[in-house]
Amino acid sequence: MSTAAAVVVYGATGHTGRFVVAELRRRGFTTIVSGRDAAQLAALAAERGDVQVRPATVDDPASLDRALAGAAAVVNCAGPFAVTAGPVVEAALRAGIPYVDVAAEIEANVSMFADHAEAAREAGTSVVPAMAFYGGLGDLLVTAAMGETTAADEAHVAYGLSGWQPTAGTRVAGQVSQQRRAGRRVRFTDGALQYHDDGVSEQDWSFPEPLGRRRVVAEFTMADVVTVPSHLAVPEVRTYMSVEAARELASEDTPAPEPVDALGRSDQTFVVDVLVRAGGVERRATARGQDIYAITAPLAVEAVRRILAGETRTTGVASAGAMFDAADFLRALSPHLSVELGGGPCPRDGFDS
Ligand SMILES: NC(=O)c1ccc[n+]([C@@H]2O[C@H](COP(=O)([O-])OP(=O)(O)OC[C@H]3O[C@@H](n4cnc5c(N)ncnc54)[C@H](OP(=O)(O)O)[C@@H]3O)[C@@H](O)[C@H]2O)c1
Repeated sequence: MSTAAAVVVYGATGHTGRFVVAELRRRGFTTIVSGRDAAQLAALAAERGDVQVRPATVDDPASLDRALAGAAAVVNCAGPFAVTAGPVVEAALRAGIPYVDVAAEIEANVSMFADHAEAAREAGTSVVPAMAFYGGLGDLLVTAAMGETTAADEAHVAYGLSGWQPTAGTRVAGQVSQQRRAGRRVRFTDGALQYHDDGVSEQDWSFPEPLGRRRVVAEFTMADVVTVPSHLAVPEVRTYMSVEAARELASEDTPAPEPVDALGRSDQTFVVDVLVRAGGVERRATARGQDIYAITAPLAVEAVRRILAGETRTTGVASAGAMFDAADFLRALSPHLSVELGGGPCPRDGFDS
């Protein structure tokens, strides 16, 4: 495959969109920057050079068609995805090109499977929602931990973030999701998403060293509760968040992330620790890296590369773990991510009460 294929980034001027543009350029893709603000796009193009500018708005399908014309794929980085995902995926399906997004809004992720699966399958096109830190990475780790098996009793995804300075887009995504849930909380249990009014609880989680035993918010429900059960028979999928990160996210005073290195990454570090239980056997997979927004770019761009190269397992709407060879995908991210896949029984329990 030639990486000269043109890839459109919708929402290219956002914090995450900029990382995706940089990663596409780094990997040799022709890059088309799109979004609703022509002036911001022109400024980005002046900064980056060698990118095409195609403004488009989600309430003008013809503008989206012009933005995607002749392109090989689109990566949607514009949130809230409750607003952007439908129009952009529909434009991708009209153009007959793959669609990848970074949505971390559970209801928007559910809608992608519910509303667009049939059209994507009929078009023979790949659509990968939540191809990002939340939703994508956890699903790849769970899938890789499970190996050849497709059923388990429980999957747990613990996020050990050093902190979380959210972008404006993250804050808006949280507000939109809260509104869609009418303030209720959500969990995935007994094989279904369930809305509830239970209070927030905490517990300890034993992350691999050097992070070690940490306090986490239990049922800090993230997009993995959509992606994992979309293709694996796991009736209990739970996600957890380090209390430091949950508190920073909740505080209105927490500033947006600040770059500390040449790649534009913040000093945030993360450990994503996955524990899968099946018939009394535990399997673990762990990933470590820096900056949850920055790592989203190699995840999304590697997905595009694999789709365009035909390195996929299915077509239609599919999560990262269903679309790709999960272990191989994780290995390909090794410059950005350090991954340990413990295929056998786990010597220690992640839970401590
Ligand atoms: N799953 C994950 O792990 C993950 C990782 C990274 C990001 N995300 C999600 O990605 C989204 C963007 O995050 P970010 O950090 O890049 O935020 P950001 O810096 O605030 O950027 C948001 C982008 O979305 C665009 N946008 C907002 N509303 C739009 C609309 N109605 N039509 C077209 N464009 C619109 C903005 O354009 P303007 O400048 O014109 O407002 C901007 O380009 C958020 O929803 C976030 O939750 C998820």
